[in-house]
Amino acid sequence: MRNKMNKSLSVVVLISGNGSNLQALIDAAGQDEYPARITAVISNCGDAYGLQRAQDAGIAQRVLSHQEYDDRDAYDQALMTLIDSFDPGLVVLAGFMRILTADFVEHYSGRLLNIHPSLLPKYKGLHTHQRVLDAGEIEHGASVHFVTLELDGGPLALQSPVPVLAGDTAEALATRVLEQEHIIYPQAVKWFAEGRLKLVDGVAMLDNKAIAIP
Ligand code: GRF
Repeated sequence: MRNKMNKSLSVVVLISGNGSNLQALIDAAGQDEYPARITAVISNCGDAYGLQRAQDAGIAQRVLSHQEYDDRDAYDQALMTLIDSFDPGLVVLAGFMRILTADFVEHYSGRLLNIHPSLLPKYKGLHTHQRVLDAGEIEHGASVHFVTLELDGGPLALQSPVPVLAGDTAEALATRVLEQEHIIYPQAVKWFAEGRLKLVDGVAMLDNKAIAIP
């Protein structure tokens, strides 16, 4: 389905790779009643498959390679300029494998979401599925959160747990978690677009109530 152009919230999605979360957002935005549209997809990697997904959906795609910038500050400044050329109301990180500068995070404060494959605050960082298995956890999951200066540490908007099953591999667990990611990310973006999900004084609020997770 095509991205609709008559919807209120403009969303820019940042990716580095496969873009299955991007696809979930594209699919959601293709529904008539969905209150957001994706105006651009930006990748720091030219070979990210998500760029193809964007092209297939008729969405503008841009590549901004970090390798062409001397340092993180210069890259993030260029990235901000590119993002802002699309005038988004929300910036969505969907597997964007970059650590962001304070300037960037502050510039998009309250309108920058990330999805992380764990039940935050547990298992920040990389390789979450293997770490969950190694620790013998019985539960794992995915989290959507507002981005703040603390890596994977911003206020939580939405979480979805999954069981860890006997014999699970990291790949099996990743697949189970991703299925939930593809549900909760479009849901969180929808709430944000409807004005129901907000960051107020550093607290994530849904319908004017602080979100309490768990
Ligand atoms: C997802 O697991 C997401 O939680 C993490 O990076 C992965 C991106 O996957 N931030 P995809 O590119 O959306 O398929």
